[in-house]
Amino acid sequence: MKPALIVHAGAWKIPEATHADHIAGIRAAAEAGWAILASGGSALDAVETAVSIMEDDPTFDAGVGSVLNRVGEIELDAMIMDGSTLQLGAVAAVRGITNPVKLARLIVEDTDHSLLVGDGARRFAELKGMRLCAQAELTVPREVERYRKLQEVPDYRLSDGFTPDTPGPWDTVGAAAMDMHGNLAAATSTGGVHYKLPGRVGDSPLVGSGAYADNQTGAASATGHGESIMRVVLSKTATDAIGHGKSAQAAAEYAVRTMYERVGGYGGIILVDYRGEIAFAFNTPHMAVAWVDVDGQVQAHLKTRQSAP
Ligand code: GLY
Repeated sequence: MKPALIVHAGAWKIPEATHADHIAGIRAAAEAGWAILASGGSALDAVETAVSIMEDDPTFDAGVGSVLNRVGEIELDAMIMDGSTLQLGAVAAVRGITNPVKLARLIVEDTDHSLLVGDGARRFAELKGMRLCAQAELTVPREVERYRKLQEVPDYRLSDGFTPDTPGPWDTVGAAAMDMHGNLAAATSTGGVHYKLPGRVGDSPLVGSGAYADNQTGAASATGHGESIMRVVLSKTATDAIGHGKSAQAAAEYAVRTMYERVGGYGGIILVDYRGEIAFAFNTPHMAVAWVDVDGQVQAHLKTRQSAP
């Protein structure tokens, strides 16, 4: 089968000054993932590689460049899922590693568990020989500045006022792919929401919310307001819609519309369906998305919403 790949790096009102960095980052991720698929590699390897490249890119709220929580710490969430087996690995609120998606993959390969959190996840990383890092390695000046400003805001509560104009970043990163064997996979990684309470876990590591993959329907990765995404189990809602006969594009739009209509949520989703069709939908001002077209060329775009949410 012809492989397929789509990646994203967030859906929100992405500042114009960072558009070029976003496009360069998603392009690099899509090219690396595509190189794996084009040479016969697995969808699981492709999404892991694409996401880890975006984790290493300080432009995005994942890995290096992640937001700080309310006590000035970085806690990371990630998930990877294999559509051929429905096995998944996820980590939540883990500190001191640069590539949580790689740790999630090790959970798939080397454990009979699905989700490890906090210190346990970090201890597992150490056990598997992953390099642990100091928080300074993940921290960028942009986020220190944002944190200091938020400290000045009395009783700051993000969820009270979340709109597409809420200052980000909402640069969760993700990828969905199909390989030559028709196997699907999806992965998502994030630093979560800025100024979150310590221990807050978003949608990204929750199966069916931040990502889902099933060879019989599709592979999906979500981005946006985690508390909204998890309430409608956005990725599973989208892949189930494919199972009920919708095209990939119709399923992506249906899932985002459902989130908005049911819980007033904002965000976006990427999809690859079991036929290898790719799609994305979002209801925020922008979404950063890259895919590989029918000629094998990477298309990387900062998309602007065309209609009301
Ligand atoms: N969608 C990422 C988060 O809310 O944590």
